[in-house]
Amino acid sequence: MLDLLIQNATLPDGRSSMSVAVQDGRIVEVAPGLQAPAHDTVDAEGQLLSPPFIDAHFHMDATLSYGLPRVNASGTLLEGIAVWGELKPHLTHEALVGRAMAYCDWAVGKGLLAIRTHVDVCDPRLLAVDALLEVKRRVAPYIDLQLVAFPQDGVLRGPLGADQHLQTLKRALDKGVDVVGGIPHFERTMADGALSVKLLCELAAERGLRVDMHCDESDDPHSRHIESLAYETQRLGLQGRVTGSHLTSMHSMDNYYVSKLIPLIAEAGLHVVANPLINITLQGRHDSYPKRRGMTRVPELLAGGVNVSFGQDCTMDPWYSLGSGDMLEVAHMGLHVGQMTSQAAMAQCFEAVTTHPAQALGLEGYGIAVGCHADMVLLQASDPAEAIRLRATRLRVYRRGKLLAQAPANTSTLHMQGRPASTAFRHESIPRF
Ligand code: FE2
Repeated sequence: MLDLLIQNATLPDGRSSMSVAVQDGRIVEVAPGLQAPAHDTVDAEGQLLSPPFIDAHFHMDATLSYGLPRVNASGTLLEGIAVWGELKPHLTHEALVGRAMAYCDWAVGKGLLAIRTHVDVCDPRLLAVDALLEVKRRVAPYIDLQLVAFPQDGVLRGPLGADQHLQTLKRALDKGVDVVGGIPHFERTMADGALSVKLLCELAAERGLRVDMHCDESDDPHSRHIESLAYETQRLGLQGRVTGSHLTSMHSMDNYYVSKLIPLIAEAGLHVVANPLINITLQGRHDSYPKRRGMTRVPELLAGGVNVSFGQDCTMDPWYSLGSGDMLEVAHMGLHVGQMTSQAAMAQCFEAVTTHPAQALGLEGYGIAVGCHADMVLLQASDPAEAIRLRATRLRVYRRGKLLAQAPANTSTLHMQGRPASTAFRHESIPRF
């Protein structure tokens, strides 16, 4: 007998009336109209069954700390870094774990079951590292949490000096942090930024680790650290294991230079993560009008064969007072900022919060296919574009075939004479010509 059988589901690739059979935490069959005895049989009623959402870029050590010790009055990146610096001396293990665990509850409710989070490794006590390693252990039954050793103050520029910061970063990796991070555009000079990329990529190559760097998170059209990251990736044979996060400067770069850069990024097999909610609010702050959007060139990168994901980056922290762990909200913003309104581009926006980040994180067994983990989200939507449009309700969230979260369908009851008794904001209820 099967553990779980979901019938009459629509899959993100458009197949409808599909059944998904689950045994021992894995998907054992995907076929139309399957009938078989199961401990739990669910009628999806034609709704969209997706693999879970994935956030390729987050800061869980800062999450839900908005207002501590004060709010970011200007809302800028630099004041955010200053507020975070003021909060750091007051952080405690318990508070860090408590906030992160609360966020993971939100994540599960939103069908977000894999998160790559950067963790600040500039504090030699590694307080946040220890806290997030504990969180990683505690949430392992329901969330894949990947940690990135992120030297927020710059591995070369940080106040303790390059040797101390590099040693601290290595100790974080020794403790079990998964990925090597960096912030080359925050180093003192372009040369120091390039040097930090070289040192950190060499460290990752030595240890057989992945790399994910905050790269060119500025409006400076001359910022060139993504070029260095592509070069070092190529030189060290790290293809497919390196991610460039943000790349907002690419928005402002000269078109001719970008026509050289995108093929270099593709050749190096770099993954790219744009963070549309944060990029649209933090970039272009020095502009009067027109104000630049600041998001990297997502459609052009995709057209160039680059794997692009959308990340949440922040939720209620010194940089961003909003957010709820909803990757459909992230995809919704990415779609708008990138003007990705064609049918194909809207599908890519959904992939940017599902299959694309799965590749960037190197997740095994991800997808709705035989042999994959039975990790699934049933959405109150008919297709990926509708899921984005409605930031669709996560009706059911499964991990390894077990139900983790459930939500009632989003419906408004109407009290108007001559009109329907309710609406769920669905397209099919609208009369067509
Ligand atoms: Fe970030």
